[in-house]
Amino acid sequence: MNLYKIIGISTLSFLLACGSAESSKEKQTQDMNKVEKQISPINDPHSYAKPHEAVVKHLDWKAEVDFERKIILATATYTIENIKGVDTIYLDSRNLLIKEVGRDDHEGSLGYETHNKSDFLGTQIAIPITQATKEISIKYETTQGADALQFLDPVQTAGKKHPFLFTQSQAILARTWLPCQDGPGVRFTYEAEVKVPKGMLALMSASNPTAINDNGIYNFKMDQAVPSYLMALAVGNIAYQQIGEVTGVYAEPELIDAAAYEFAEMQNMVDTAEALYGEYRWGKYDVIVLPPSFPFGGMENPRLTFATPTIIAGDRSLTALIAHELAHSWSGNLVTNATWADIWLNEGFTVYFENRIMEEIYGKDFANMLAILSYQDLKEEIEWLKSEGREADTRLKVDLEGRDPDDGLTGIPYDKGYYLLRLIEETVGRERWDAFLKQYFNEYAFEVMTTKRFLAYLNAELLDEKPEWKEAIRVEEWVYETGLPDNCPKVSSTKFQAVEKQLTAWKGGQFARELETENWMTPEWLHFVRLLPDTMEFAQMQELDKAYGFTTIGNSEIQAAWFEKVIPNNYEASDAASKKFLIEVGRRKFLVPIYKAILKSAAGKERAEAIYQEARPNYHAVSRETLDKLLGYQQ
Ligand code: BES
Ligand code: ZN
Repeated sequence: MNLYKIIGISTLSFLLACGSAESSKEKQTQDMNKVEKQISPINDPHSYAKPHEAVVKHLDWKAEVDFERKIILATATYTIENIKGVDTIYLDSRNLLIKEVGRDDHEGSLGYETHNKSDFLGTQIAIPITQATKEISIKYETTQGADALQFLDPVQTAGKKHPFLFTQSQAILARTWLPCQDGPGVRFTYEAEVKVPKGMLALMSASNPTAINDNGIYNFKMDQAVPSYLMALAVGNIAYQQIGEVTGVYAEPELIDAAAYEFAEMQNMVDTAEALYGEYRWGKYDVIVLPPSFPFGGMENPRLTFATPTIIAGDRSLTALIAHELAHSWSGNLVTNATWADIWLNEGFTVYFENRIMEEIYGKDFANMLAILSYQDLKEEIEWLKSEGREADTRLKVDLEGRDPDDGLTGIPYDKGYYLLRLIEETVGRERWDAFLKQYFNEYAFEVMTTKRFLAYLNAELLDEKPEWKEAIRVEEWVYETGLPDNCPKVSSTKFQAVEKQLTAWKGGQFARELETENWMTPEWLHFVRLLPDTMEFAQMQELDKAYGFTTIGNSEIQAAWFEKVIPNNYEASDAASKKFLIEVGRRKFLVPIYKAILKSAAGKERAEAIYQEARPNYHAVSRETLDKLLGYQQ
């Protein structure tokens, strides 16, 4: 079945294109856009909606969060546009309990159909409409099958007194808590009224309150159209602290000071990002630090990034993640991947942008270290995908047809995407490239981008100018072919060379405590731990641990890298700490390699399964889904 999406029709650029005073180059571009911005149907294999026929433009969401039953009860009213004058509008849903459907031009409740299509895509809701229909409404409840939601018991929070709720909608989980046209190609504005138990605060990816009120009813407004994967809600005993002019941090009161200290550079990051690629368009930029079961490092929900507490290292050393989520305010939230197969347009651009922010704030040496770590990740990911028979997933443009987009999510769009953009920068020069990017974000703001459309734009606006640029970059090879092209930029770092020298000295018999590590920052430590031999004696690991305290270090990245190294070497001295980590932390990026390391150790499957049994109830569905497969877990 073919489903189509509309690329937003920009009336303004139509009108502009009709003006007469433009240069011929401008004219050419606008002509291209004129063609491109007309209906370019996009096949989104992960949505049952047909937004090119009838589309949701605005959502009015009235909801109540029931912590006793761990559900949300809601009524969603949608303002729609019946583009083609059709008799049905289609929405996505999954595991929702639909109570009643209504329509503004119809008395009483309305008949509707559901078509249950697949486990991960869920159920298509088909609602009859007429040419006169302006609004439809759905009264519904979420169920225990709402994979976007994680309801936490008080023990899973820092305060231990109040429950907590957060959502994670990307990629296709919004439909588990809100019937919607759940593809990244459909944007809508929204407003909401959310009722929560007294004494708790509710926050969304919208204009937000900053303090708990007396009645537990909160109102939200998002005037800029966003795709459904950016719908977000968090509820808990949450405090706020302002950081800069448009920035601030939310966290449980127990964590708020540590969070505010850690993210002190946030305003600087926003200012830096604006100086690079243009105005920050979303008003405020706040971060909420969630409880540790949050399955990702961060999620770029507009106006309110969701973040894991594992980046609170106490020394501000893991804040590249904030730069990353902030960068999505341009690459992703403003110019949005048209389908999940184009996700490199979101993530690759964001890693690139993140690195540029880090370079501005912490200097080129620091940014280059991050780039090399990204290269190491990339090499490893490609090897791993090949060994799994998934070489096709090493393409930037992936084929996700018939698969849950989450299963297709790898490090490739991030790191290979980053290196392609770095190659373009190195080839055409930073000045030209930055001007191009700035123009790209402006020109396609609030629109969707396909890989094809981006390549056409890149050629027309930049690469067509010099054939030698095209030859040097070979962009099609990067995007459509597997593996890593041989023109991948090589990054070198004197700081990493110094680390390698110390490591050689240690291998040659020098004591760990005598190594020159005084000024090392997190990337240097990560490089050191990653380069440790795959096979080590107990005494060697113990010596390193005594000198540097890796097993109980407060820096989650270093700690996880250490576990990955020593667990397969049966370093039992880290068992208690690794178990504690796996039980408390739900961040999938850490869990997967640590469980894999346990599987390689002598205690092997038995230990992995025993820990998983205990830890699993703490994990979000996204992490459970992946780990159930890794560990062959059956409910
Ligand atoms: N948008 C992603 C998270 C995501 C991607 C969720 C795809 C679901 C599907 C977010 O911006 C991200 O990339 N997070 C990374 C952080 C990073 C690379 C600094 C993470 O969670 O580790
Ligand atoms: Zn990202």
